[in-house]
Amino acid sequence: MINNQKITLLDIKSKKDDQQPITMLTAYDYPSAQLVDKAGVDIILVGDSLGMTVMGYPTTVPVTMDEMIHHCKMVARGTQHAFLIGDMPFMSYQAGRSDAIRNAGRFLKEGGMEAVKLEGGEVAGDLVKAIVNSGISVMGHIGLTPQSVTRFGGYRVQGKTAVSAKQLISDALILQEAGCFSIVLEAIPAQVAEIITETLSIPTIGIGAGNRCDGQVLVYHDLLGLYPDFTPKFVKQYANLSKSITDAVKKYCLDVKQRKFPSDKYSFKISGKELQKIKG
Ligand code: KIV
Repeated sequence: MINNQKITLLDIKSKKDDQQPITMLTAYDYPSAQLVDKAGVDIILVGDSLGMTVMGYPTTVPVTMDEMIHHCKMVARGTQHAFLIGDMPFMSYQAGRSDAIRNAGRFLKEGGMEAVKLEGGEVAGDLVKAIVNSGISVMGHIGLTPQSVTRFGGYRVQGKTAVSAKQLISDALILQEAGCFSIVLEAIPAQVAEIITETLSIPTIGIGAGNRCDGQVLVYHDLLGLYPDFTPKFVKQYANLSKSITDAVKKYCLDVKQRKFPSDKYSFKISGKELQKIKG
């Protein structure tokens, strides 16, 4: 571990004030949380992207609260340093304030998270206020919000016209006013993300939003080359683990077929005397 100290909301806020970029990455289980935490990432997000990367759904829409809590518990057990955020899945907050508060509370009480994230701009303002007023910290998420992918007609960059960019700036201000401690900006032009970042006093975390945001987030499987189904333009793959894993499994299969594994090194033996007694 780079730094044993637990990251707090105050650390995240002061990183913006000190112009120190914030690092955020998703994790979905005990081993991925341990690896990410050990590398010194500031924020771990248990993203509902797990619906695609871990569960094999085509979108994040089918993910349930119980599934999210299940994964949050594993991540919490593997994390000592990073600030932990649980992602509210589709329809866990949209239907009303009491649903939103109750489900946000589950992330803290059952999942071991320290804050929640939810998607949406102006429309989410009142829900954010209600959750924050109940004592739970909220991260916003605007731009390409994957739970609304059908409404957008696919995974498309948002805020490319002056009108839609102004709406994003207004959404960001509404979320800040509602009490969000930070906002994810996904798949929006870098210049628009820069304006939002300069306008807000709370940190922005970009994903496909250029390098002027206060921090960056990526999906664990994308960064490591573990999700071959689809790689968005904004993803930099820092490793190709899919290939390494498939190569290793192929070698194992070959060794088994050729009776090279397990060799004596990986086997247990009894003494010749005991063997004799068995054979008679
Ligand atoms: O679900 C997720 O992983 C996310 C990030 C891409 C921000 O929302």
